[in-house]
Parts: sequence; C-alpha cells; structure tokens
Amino acid sequence: MEPFRFHIFVCTQEKPEGVTCCPASGSLSVLQSLHRELGVQGLSSDVQVSSCGCLGLCDDGPIMITYPEGVWYRKVKAEDVPEIVSSHLRSGKVVSRLQWNDPPAMKEAAAEHTRQYLAMVKAKDEAGTLPDNLFEMTRSFMPSRTLLTALELDIFTAVGAGGSAEQIAQKIHADPRAAEMLLNALASLKLLEKRDETFFNTAASARFFSAGSHDNAQPGLLHIAHIWHGWSNLTECVREGTSVGTARRQDGWTRDFIAAMDHNAKERANAVVKAVGTNGIKRVLDLGGGSGAYSIAFARAVPELKSEILDLAGVVPLTQRYIQQAGLASRITSRAGDMLRDPLGENYDLILVLAICHMFSPKENRELFRRAHKALAPKGQLVVQDFILEPAKTAPRVAALFSLNMLVNTRAGASYSEPEYSAWLRDAGFSDVRRVRLPGPGGLMIGVRS
Ligand SMILES: C[S@@+](CC[C@H](N)C(=O)[O-])C[C@H]1O[C@@H](n2cnc3c(N)ncnc32)[C@H](O)[C@@H]1O
Ligand code: FES
Repeated sequence: MEPFRFHIFVCTQEKPEGVTCCPASGSLSVLQSLHRELGVQGLSSDVQVSSCGCLGLCDDGPIMITYPEGVWYRKVKAEDVPEIVSSHLRSGKVVSRLQWNDPPAMKEAAAEHTRQYLAMVKAKDEAGTLPDNLFEMTRSFMPSRTLLTALELDIFTAVGAGGSAEQIAQKIHADPRAAEMLLNALASLKLLEKRDETFFNTAASARFFSAGSHDNAQPGLLHIAHIWHGWSNLTECVREGTSVGTARRQDGWTRDFIAAMDHNAKERANAVVKAVGTNGIKRVLDLGGGSGAYSIAFARAVPELKSEILDLAGVVPLTQRYIQQAGLASRITSRAGDMLRDPLGENYDLILVLAICHMFSPKENRELFRRAHKALAPKGQLVVQDFILEPAKTAPRVAALFSLNMLVNTRAGASYSEPEYSAWLRDAGFSDVRRVRLPGPGGLMIGVRS
C-alpha cells in the first residue's frame, strides 16, 4: 500500500432527486467527518481517501470500503466515523456492526441494481424522453440566478446567527412571501439550513457570502450578477456579432468588477511571479493593472522594483486605494489612459498584459504587442495572461464559454488560441515565444524583445 497504509473509498455518486443514492443517505457528511477524524487522530498522511462512483448497493448506502483488507461497511453515518478510525485504522479491529460481509447477497444486490438501471435507461430511450443531463443543462441557470439574487439582497448577512423568513424579509426590505420562497430554495440548494422555521447559514455561506467574514467573496461575485444581464442578450449578440445593451451598467459595476479581478489575480499572482522570474526586472509596466494585484506581487518579490499601472480614468482611483492598502504607493504608480492609443513609455524590463487581450480584437492585440515591443528594453519580456484555447477552440470549456462572455460584454473581444498568440507575438518582433501552463484554467504566453 506504500505510500499509504490504508486507502478508503466512500461512494459519492449523485443521482437525480428522489433516487436512492449514497449522497442522499449522507455520504458527503461521512466523507467530511472522515477527513476531520483522520486529522484529529493523527492519521491524515497514512490514509488516502477517495470518492467513488455507484457500486450498485445504493439501498444500503452510504457505502465505505477500506483497503488493503477490502472491508465493506454499509449504512455508515458521520457519527460512526470516529469509531471506524480508532478501531479499524488505529487498532486493526473491524467494526463488525457496520461490516457487510455477505458476498453472494452483495453480488445479487448489485446485479439487481444493474438490471433495474438498464431497464430504466431502455424505457426512457424507447419513450424518447430527453436525457436528464440535457434537461438539467437547459435549466441550470436557475440555481445560479437564485444564488446571485441572494448575494444581491445580501441575504446571508441578514440571516446572520439565524432568523425566521419574516425577520429576514424585514432586514432585506423584501416581500415576506417571496423572501420565504427564496430562503426555501436556498435551503434546497444546501446554501442555508432550515430548522423549525428558522434559517441558518451553512459553514460555507457564513464564511464566503457574509459581510464581516475574512473570506467574504460577495463583492467579487456581484460582478457575476452584473454580467448576467449581458448574458440575457446572448441570442441578440450572436445575431448582431457584438455586445448589445451594455450601455446601461448598474451602480457599482466598476467597483465590483475590480473586486472580482482582484480576487482572481491574488489567487495566481505568486504563480505568475514564479513563472516569469524576477532576474534583472526593475521597471514594470502593468497595462490595465486593475487592482494592481500583480504589480504588488512583483514589488513584494523584488525590493528595488518599480511598477507603473496604466488603466482607465474610472478605475485609477480604485487602483490607488488597493496600492495604498498594500503600503506600496512609493513604488507602484498609476496613470489614467487608453492603452490602445496613449503612449506606453519606454525601456521597461517587463510589460504585463494580464487578463487584457480577451477584451480586444485580433487587430487591436497585434497593434498592442507591436507597441509593447517598442516600449521594452532589449531582452525585456512581454507577459500575457489569459484563458488560452486549444487550436480547435472547443477546449478548455471555461475558455470557450468565456469567449461568449466577451461577445456579450465587449465590442470585439474573444478568447484566443495558442497559435494566435504565438503568431501575434512573433509578428510583433518577439523571440523565445513560449506558453507557460499555470495551475487552474488560465495560462501565460511570454515573448522576449530580441
Ligand atoms: C479584466 S481586467 C484585468 C485587470 C488586471 N490586469 C488583472 O489581471 O487583475 C481588465 C483591465 O483593463 C482595463 N482596461 C480596459 N480597457 C482599457 C484600455 N483601453 N486602456 C487601459 N486599461 C483598460 C480595465 O479597466 C481593467 O482594469
Ligand atoms: S450510489 Fe453509492 S452505491 Fe449506489
């Protein structure tokens, strides 16, 4: 079993609502409890835990299997986990009251499950019923819209330590009947818990969606609520070939947009610094630097480095606030301008074009790269960060869908492929053009001024 002493599988196969399955019987709590208990009993590095798909024993779920012994446990509850860890994993004593050790019966149950499943698939197919996954896709906007509305109404903050529908409706100035429907829907999505007519935040909603929490992601997520409006016009945008109806942007659009960019950028800034390197980099130009998260990361990595951020006039005051908060106002400056038209400056060691190219047309990007090439010192680097499509442009999915996000939100933007970026960089005069894959969906394209 090296490098682990045990390997435990817990079935987490989700099935359509109403169909018996391990998650419906509580396997996700079992999994959580297992991770917690392994930590508490000091076994985390000895035990590998994996989720697995349906084993055909759903009526007896949650199912857990422990290797190397191959012990099957059934109807495991979160409360049983401490005993399994201490007795089985620590003392080598199987928890016999939960063990299922009747291979013929297990085999028959699994075979019966397969027979029923195949009969159901056949009946659905013969009836010409739309498969569940396709039906789900047509209405998957409903959970998304429900959560976005909850964020817009700041419901999770209003729920606080718990409250009735009426109390929460009052706090958010909403209609009580409609607020209760929304709260019930949030509970059905497991974003809230309802006990005796009182709604409570889950651990995740208290941590990520509530004001006052250190990890509150609500400000950045409101950006998604804003872009929802553009996506409602997708059909029209496809007909017209460009964004329609973004002229009336809601209050707070820019603030929420920069908050969202800051959240994304902070997540990967250190990986970008590491991939680019810091050798000889003293002067940086950060085009469309937004919250300045990347300039801040480079400035922290190189004490003598200075960075200039060029961004739109409406954004620069926000940029300055982020930089002041980071205590780097003496080394990171910002100026208002249009990177497509205004002079870029000269003699930079590094020009950052991070999450920028998707806003522009191929022609604008070519021209931007050409001007950036001129603005670099010899051996200076241009670094592009973006979702980078594979040559066929159908993967990764996040990049293909993001291309539509640019269709609905910009005049001529899109996601672009590695061959496109490479050609633009080479044609602008860059050498040593390379792609760097980062953890997560985004990637870098780097070129060096020869
Ligand atoms: C998607 S955000 C990326 C921000 C930042 N680079 C990051 O990765 O976090 C795009 C940024 O470019 C700025 N921007 C858009 N068009 C611009 C233009 N023509 N000139 C200068 N900045 C622009 C926006 O205001 C915004 O801050
Ligand atoms: S869903 Fe777990 S065994 Fe079927």
